[in-house]
Amino acid sequence: MCGIVGYVGRNADDRALEVVMEGLARLEYRGYDSAGVALVTDAGILSDKRAGKLENLRKALARQPLAPSRTAIGHTRWATHGGPTDENAHPHHGGEGDRLALIHNGIIENFHALKNELLADGVEFTSETDTEVAAKLVGREYDRTGDLTAAMRAVVNRLEGAFTLLAVHADSPGVVVGARRNSPLVVGVGDGEFFLGSDVAAFIGYTRNAVELGQDQIVTITPDGYAVTDFAGNPAAGRGYEVTWDASAAEKGGFATFMEKEIHDQPQAVADTLLGRFDEDGCLVLDEVRISEEDLRRITRITIVACGTAAYAGMVAKYAIEHWTRIPVEVALAHEFRYCDPIVDETTLVVSISQSGETMDTLMAVKHANELGALTLSICNTHGSTIPRESDAVLYTHAGPEIAVASTKAFLAQITASYILGLYLAQLRGETYADDAREVMAELRQIPAKIEDLLGRMDRVKEIAYFMADSRAVLFLGRHVGFPVALEGALKLKELAYIHAEGFAAGELKHGPIALIEPGQPVFIVVPAPDTPHELHKKVVSNIQEIRARGARTIVIAEDGDEDVVPFANEVIRVPQTAPLLAPLLAVVPLQVFALHLSTAKDLDVDQPRNLAKSVTVE
Ligand code: F6R
Repeated sequence: MCGIVGYVGRNADDRALEVVMEGLARLEYRGYDSAGVALVTDAGILSDKRAGKLENLRKALARQPLAPSRTAIGHTRWATHGGPTDENAHPHHGGEGDRLALIHNGIIENFHALKNELLADGVEFTSETDTEVAAKLVGREYDRTGDLTAAMRAVVNRLEGAFTLLAVHADSPGVVVGARRNSPLVVGVGDGEFFLGSDVAAFIGYTRNAVELGQDQIVTITPDGYAVTDFAGNPAAGRGYEVTWDASAAEKGGFATFMEKEIHDQPQAVADTLLGRFDEDGCLVLDEVRISEEDLRRITRITIVACGTAAYAGMVAKYAIEHWTRIPVEVALAHEFRYCDPIVDETTLVVSISQSGETMDTLMAVKHANELGALTLSICNTHGSTIPRESDAVLYTHAGPEIAVASTKAFLAQITASYILGLYLAQLRGETYADDAREVMAELRQIPAKIEDLLGRMDRVKEIAYFMADSRAVLFLGRHVGFPVALEGALKLKELAYIHAEGFAAGELKHGPIALIEPGQPVFIVVPAPDTPHELHKKVVSNIQEIRARGARTIVIAEDGDEDVVPFANEVIRVPQTAPLLAPLLAVVPLQVFALHLSTAKDLDVDQPRNLAKSVTVE
């Protein structure tokens, strides 16, 4: 969950600190408990690190500037071992005279044993972190060998768990060494300068040429190039690619917050995810497929694994994929999947959904599925991330970088990609005819314009949010594909506005939760389109009446033209009409906007809510 940046350059302007600070600003979404930098200078390693947001470090550096340098590393932390203090902030130091600095993302599971070994040798520690153990070990190896890459290699082979490590040494200016296991690391290739980052956002302001590292690899960057080996020291190669978005995509673009910008990116995110998906024969073009069509035809079940918002996208996917393919679909929270003895074999397709591609719970679920012989497919937003690499096939969502911690545009892109997958499987297996698929695709292509239209009508939602700033609890109800939308609406409100919020399947209400309704209780209801099969619309309208009769304040999300809801609604938020299965792509937007403005009304940090981090790389 931490963000890490490394830089070496031969440019005369000695801009290492500037590059690293800019990288940290772009990676701060990964964790913001503390931040620190280390520079290699003629005077040795110069370092500063501060608890709190990057701004604290920035101010400290303004008060007491560090000497110029061409080699630097930087870290922004989401605390795991040891609280968010100055002492526990990275970098940590090791070796004789503390001439080595090291930063870390992940968790070193065997750090207690290693620390005891070092303590027995008289090594002293200044922090409670697992990272400092790695710093001491690499420092000691460097003192023996004088070779930073060799020192890193000797240590990573002793570590268990998940880690990306970057190290610099005062006696090796112009060298940064990185290593990764179960945690991301990407190389940026510039002209006479090279970068390392947790993701490409770290260096997107300088280069779009990136190299993705494989599992268990070590990379050494110098101003002349980069060299990759495996943990045994054998030469290895990364996979080069060009980043398709530029720095402006990772900036706020005139909006007050990243989240607001990303909500407004949604029409584009859906349009881009749909782009170029079908060839002339109407067959889906997956980004990377290592599963034969024959194997896909043989699938007997699908299990979707994901966490949080991505899992709600999976719940929407279940309704659509089952409807179109008649293949049973189960949605499992990735962190529970491994422990429920899942029924998975070679005819099971395990679909992981992840914005970051680094969520440890989801990664472990995919690995477990691979071990059980399942076919694995990743729906992911981040090129070069770990989960797609561990999967047999990849369908990338093209939402662009999502910086705000609360997911918005990735959710819509994930749902869109799931629809594409469902249609493709249906076609492949002859369950749906090309005409039907074309009809859904045609409606999907209308969605970006409809979201655009919807975003233009959000003034009342903003007013409602400000009006409700003092709410203590808010309920969200939905049925069918509206149920995961209700869950997502509640999650957005919890994480952004710290208000107790619950999402329920509207039909479940009378089985218990209706006891929560008291006069004035605000309840959002996601109403299905009037033409949804099985008279669902009518049933939800009855649910609204039931809670209204008990004093609830009803805020109803209903399609344009749906007049049946009007008599029972305190507020009606209108969304454009679409096919019932595609409705979540529209219905969720007002709920995102509501949470955004309620958080703003409470003067909270919209982009970086408390206790959270964007990429959850610990289990
Ligand atoms: C909520 C949110 C999280 C993520 C979850 C999975 O707004 O962002 O619930 O959806 O942590 O993350 P990814 O999609 O990166 O695997």
